[in-house]
Amino acid sequence: MAARRRRPSFPGVDYESGRLPAFERRRRAKKYVWRKRHGAWGCMGMVGFVVLFFGCVHIVNVFLGYLPLIHDDPAAFALDWTQPDQASTDMASYLLDITKDVTPIPCHSHNDYWRRVPLYDALRWGCTGVEADVWLFDEDLFVGHSTHALTQNRTFRSMYVDPLVKMLDHKNENTTFLSTSDLTSTNKLGVFDTAPQQTLVLLVDFKNNGSQIFPYVSSQISALRERGYLTYYDGEKRVEGPITVVATGNAPFDMVVANSTYRDIFFDAPLDRLYVEPKGEEGQDQAQYDDGDSTSSSSVSTTGQGTVGTTPDSHFDSTNSFYASTNFRKSVGRIWFGHLSHKQRELIRGQIKGAHERGLKVRYWGAPKWPIALRNRVWWDLVDMGVDYLNGDDLAGMTKFDWSIHRHWGWFE
Ligand SMILES: *[C@@H]1O[C@H](CO)[C@@H](O)[C@H](O)[C@H]1NC(C)=O
Ligand SMILES: *[C@@H]1O[C@H](CO)[C@@H](O)[C@H](O)[C@H]1NC(C)=O
Ligand SMILES: *[C@@H]1O[C@H](CO)[C@@H](O)[C@H](O)[C@H]1NC(C)=O
Ligand SMILES: *[C@@H]1O[C@H](CO)[C@@H](O)[C@H](O)[C@H]1NC(C)=O
Repeated sequence: MAARRRRPSFPGVDYESGRLPAFERRRRAKKYVWRKRHGAWGCMGMVGFVVLFFGCVHIVNVFLGYLPLIHDDPAAFALDWTQPDQASTDMASYLLDITKDVTPIPCHSHNDYWRRVPLYDALRWGCTGVEADVWLFDEDLFVGHSTHALTQNRTFRSMYVDPLVKMLDHKNENTTFLSTSDLTSTNKLGVFDTAPQQTLVLLVDFKNNGSQIFPYVSSQISALRERGYLTYYDGEKRVEGPITVVATGNAPFDMVVANSTYRDIFFDAPLDRLYVEPKGEEGQDQAQYDDGDSTSSSSVSTTGQGTVGTTPDSHFDSTNSFYASTNFRKSVGRIWFGHLSHKQRELIRGQIKGAHERGLKVRYWGAPKWPIALRNRVWWDLVDMGVDYLNGDDLAGMTKFDWSIHRHWGWFE
């Protein structure tokens, strides 16, 4: 009897067919399905985790971006600017010299809503444009982003006009005349010690009825006017002063241009109506990218820029306007794939060309704010193409931005 080599035998294994028994096949099949399903969950989990991770990084990034603004200069915050008499304390003299070592840069400080001392914030960061949202109630102009933010003591006069008068009086105290024979500027020193000829734009956003607000603004800036601190148009040319008042929102264009021999409130012209062919030799005077809204002369807005008192053939130039602005998102559109498309760049070039031919400064508002890298890239592109002012809430970010074009500029903050 031949000795059979015994194979190790396991119960239930069918060694003849080499197949696994049914229960084992089922067990393995189950295990496979389990693995497959949980593998898919695992993958989704990983993706979710990555998304979550970068979400957190973004949130932290945003908060860090605001941190310097929240932890702002304690000296400025120790002062309650809503109390008028505080402006004459010792601290005030510190604030009078706030621009001592500040380099002015063409940014525009928007959104005074959550900034307690918007004017000083803008100046301390070196922004040469600052915005005041004004509402007319009870015969006075109140400052705030919305009606909820208005308080008795936050008025246009107390938060902007009076501090500017004080600051400029202080700077011009010992100088009788700036040594200039230049007829296109007043001979007063401006708010920036390092660049005394630099004008500060005070952009006044008319929030409610524009034709009612206009005379109030005009009379409240008279302290600046009388001292020769305002940029004005004398019927022939514009003479630049330390402060340039620009009206936007529901500001009525017809009232801005009503007086043809003297103007010191300038309009925020609609940039999207100034497009000229960027490659063409001659500028065409007509709007080619008009949004087709021919009834815009009566459009009233509570946010951003309006076209009150304009007609389709209103002519905007440096005798009646200072900025030419538009809502980036509305005019240029969304940004896909992280950069401006060819078409978008051509549109922006054309708008810039049209505005510059009329002697106006280009300002886009409503450009993407985040991710920070995208924002910076868009800023980079805009400045590169010739945009004159950036609009934003992130003053630190704007001032860190390298305006002197761009070679050494990194993508990381
Ligand atoms: C406004 O200022 C006045 C005078 O300094 C003060 O008496 C009053 O309480 C302030 N009002 C508010 C709402 O802060
Ligand atoms: C102006 O002159 C007075 C007296 O000489 C001096 O006390 C003051 O600090 C000067 N002001 C400025 C802004 O230089
Ligand atoms: C603004 O006020 C003027 C005069 O009081 C009035 O005629 C006009 O209709 C008002 N405009 C709006 C948009 O309410
Ligand atoms: C224009 O403004 C100047 C200076 O305020 C004034 O003297 C003149 O009368 C005004 N002209 C008209 C037409 O309102």
